[in-house]
Amino acid sequence: MDTEQKITEQKSKRRAKYLLIADALKQAIKQGQVVPNEALPSARTLATQLNVNRHTIMAAVAELVAQGWVETKERSGYRVVEKLPIQTSQAVSNTTAKHPVFEWQFRHKNTTALVPTKGASAYKYNFSGGQPDNRLFPFNEFKHYFSQLCQHPQFTHLGYDNNVGETDLITQVSTYLRRVRSITDKEIMICNGSQEGLYMVSKLLLQAGDKVAVEQFGYPPAWAAFKSSGAELVVIEQDNKGIVPKHLAAQLAQGNIKLIYLTPLHQYPTTVTLDASRRMQIYQLAAQYGVAIIEDDYDHEFHYDSQPIAPMAADDPLGLVIYISTFSKLMFGGARIGYVVANNALITALTAYKTLMNHKSNVLMQQAVAKWMQQGGFESHLRRMTRCYHKRRDFLVNLLRDYQQQGLPITFDCPAGGMALWVDMGVSIVGLKQTLLTKDVYLQTEVEFNLITGQDKSQYRFIRVGFASMSEVEITQGMKIIVQELYG
Ligand SMILES: Cc1ncc(COP(=O)(O)O)c(C=O)c1O
Repeated sequence: MDTEQKITEQKSKRRAKYLLIADALKQAIKQGQVVPNEALPSARTLATQLNVNRHTIMAAVAELVAQGWVETKERSGYRVVEKLPIQTSQAVSNTTAKHPVFEWQFRHKNTTALVPTKGASAYKYNFSGGQPDNRLFPFNEFKHYFSQLCQHPQFTHLGYDNNVGETDLITQVSTYLRRVRSITDKEIMICNGSQEGLYMVSKLLLQAGDKVAVEQFGYPPAWAAFKSSGAELVVIEQDNKGIVPKHLAAQLAQGNIKLIYLTPLHQYPTTVTLDASRRMQIYQLAAQYGVAIIEDDYDHEFHYDSQPIAPMAADDPLGLVIYISTFSKLMFGGARIGYVVANNALITALTAYKTLMNHKSNVLMQQAVAKWMQQGGFESHLRRMTRCYHKRRDFLVNLLRDYQQQGLPITFDCPAGGMALWVDMGVSIVGLKQTLLTKDVYLQTEVEFNLITGQDKSQYRFIRVGFASMSEVEITQGMKIIVQELYG
């Protein structure tokens, strides 16, 4: 053993010894062998009694002082403190004995309902409408960007500054939005997925008593974000072409609506694409009443029958549209990269607000995505996935048509894009979801998206069948279980 090793060993032995002595003294105090205010024997006495070095005793006593068991008084050596830490905890446990469970008063109780105990992807057949096929993500390609970034870290980017997002990623997103979605002249903030964007916008624009116009069928996490600011949701009618502008006009006339929340490209959950004429009418109404529009464009690229209609944010002369989008469908939900696109004032306010929540988004992930976009891998992946989901949509449509021909009362419109079909099963689907979960099938049903509660649920017949995350074989097997469950 070399000298250095010996010294380290001796040190650790000594350390162990003083801690053992501190524990023994603490035990003696707890058991009342030494009482509050009583002076401890001198270090020399203890050292002789315990046959240890005086310094070891001094270290043990210092430890007890640090833990609050012993104090030092001028010229009177060390004494046990008057109020022992143990007395406080005993007092607390006496109280809790009378009231066994202490209950916090949470302000946002109902949000816990949004956290699934078991995520959709844990099921063998995952018909969740919002899930890409994570198995097809090019991890091998993507890891190179992470690896490069770790080999050559940009130290000046790794701190707490610049929480609007990594400049490289903002540049890439901005170029992409201009080229592919015709959005220009707005500023971008990167956030941890759309949900964070929705939440922050709610916090900045809404307060108790405000109203948010939403469709009857919609995206509950967005509703929850609005409600968390005290806002009330106003249901706007929708038909088979989407939100009904006439009804929106009537509700706006009643006052206090501060926001309109829309998913115009693929209405969530019904998948309908809002046509240009309705978009125009809604925009004019928003302008007339000075109301902001949140445009949640969550799966823009996955449009199959034509080029996707440009977002409302692409034609927004008055700056009314707050555009929110995400990489969750283009990559995977856990990537947690989304962005808010709006005017300078809102982006500045959001950036300041974000500091309250979590300072900034993951820098390495942002930089890796920026490099992936810059090198062209991102768009190749999009093209691959759009082709794949297009095929899967057609496959599911044909499968359902086969079932129709076999006489099942299924009806649906083939959506122009998206990752799911909204299907009327022709019979009540109440209880279907729970039964399917026991058969390893995850499926969302009408009940989960309907803002109007208290209706006769036996009338519910719609399911949202996601087709993106499964192969054709899996879709076939999973659908067979659903059909068997409903029609026997
Ligand atoms: C309507 C809607 N908005 C946004 C998102 C994406 O949310 P995030 O970016 O927080 O993952 C989803 C995903 O399911 C969605 O369906």
